[in-house]
Amino acid sequence: MILAGRHVLLGVSGGIASYKACTLARRLAEAGTAVDVVLTAAAAEFVRPLTFEALTGRPVLTSLWTPGRALDHIALARDPDLVVLAPATANLLARAAGGIGDDVLTTILLAREGPVLAAPAMNDAMYAHPATQANLEILDRRGWRFIGPDVGPLAEGPSERPGRMAEPEVIFTAVVRAVRGTASPLRGRRVLVTAGPTREHLDPIRVVTNISSGRMGFALAADAYARGAEVTLLAGPTALTPPAGARVERVVTTADLAAAVTRHLPETDVLLMAAAPADYRPAAAVPEKRARTDGPVTVAFVPTDDILESTRAHRKPGAIIVGFAYETTDGSARARAKLDRKGLDLVVLNLDEPGAGAEVETNRITLVSRTGDVPGTLESKAQAAVRILDAVEDLL
Ligand code: CTP
Repeated sequence: MILAGRHVLLGVSGGIASYKACTLARRLAEAGTAVDVVLTAAAAEFVRPLTFEALTGRPVLTSLWTPGRALDHIALARDPDLVVLAPATANLLARAAGGIGDDVLTTILLAREGPVLAAPAMNDAMYAHPATQANLEILDRRGWRFIGPDVGPLAEGPSERPGRMAEPEVIFTAVVRAVRGTASPLRGRRVLVTAGPTREHLDPIRVVTNISSGRMGFALAADAYARGAEVTLLAGPTALTPPAGARVERVVTTADLAAAVTRHLPETDVLLMAAAPADYRPAAAVPEKRARTDGPVTVAFVPTDDILESTRAHRKPGAIIVGFAYETTDGSARARAKLDRKGLDLVVLNLDEPGAGAEVETNRITLVSRTGDVPGTLESKAQAAVRILDAVEDLL
């Protein structure tokens, strides 16, 4: 579990977005962290403390005057790895900026010396108000970090201006990055991830592609971001939602992907080549749709560039290059041959078996490096990503 053994305080203030804090609390608890929830009086009008108690399995604090918990606000200011405020209303930000401690949450903020991450959420005019902007500036200078607000529909109707709270999943990712990223050797490193299939056009509407889903690459981008890396994700055609925090560039053909990799490579510290680029493309591009004919059709294909191979000349010194291999026979020997031939630091070998490889949610991978093979069991692609990046950290 990505946050096992960690401790997060979730401070909830009273806005309509308070209900989304329930999703965040649940997500944090599922990730293995202890979650202490503190509600303002207004938040408790929107969502009952009991809801958070059930979601986190821990008592919820709403008042300074709870018998037996007289000093909890000091412990809760001191102990958590992170205080996350979601939603952070204009009023909460104002009280925090002004150093006012008139309830349990603001008292905790006043006593807090460690990191604070706030997800502002309010009406768009309230967010734009100079008083709110000044408060945000003050808190920013004190080292607070912010996530959002987004532009999007508000409870009172559509809006073109920021005010809507960042989505719980995005806040969750920011929490993981804030908590985990401090210790990782990947923090601040530039990680380039390629993901998904490519498409080679036979004519304007027909393509040759493969069954890669992009899931493995997207999971790697999400986990690298959580570890504090600066992540660029080069994604072929896939319907997946890109992970929060990664800069996403879309590509279609192997040539597009090769050009994008070449462009980013001089600054890249880690290349994770999880994409399945087409190895061949039609020899001639046909500008018009091919009409149907009754007889067989022959299309000549020519090889595309081997991207990994071509990176050799442009790698940053010390860069870690990770290739992926999908083999049906002689997996380990063929993966090791690729490691040597393409000058890679690690090859992630996908085994060809039910429940593993392209198109499915799970994978079974073997990590092949100069120090030997590390086989794995069937696991989610998110778990596989964690193992791959643990190995990359060791190499760094
Ligand atoms: N790859 C690449 N450029 C291509 C095709 C693949 O850089 N034109 C990368 C993939 O992203 C993957 C690795 O090469 O990381 C291995 O791909 P794979 O298809 O297993 O191997 P090939 O190198 O094509 O070798 P072979 O077909 O002989 O197994």
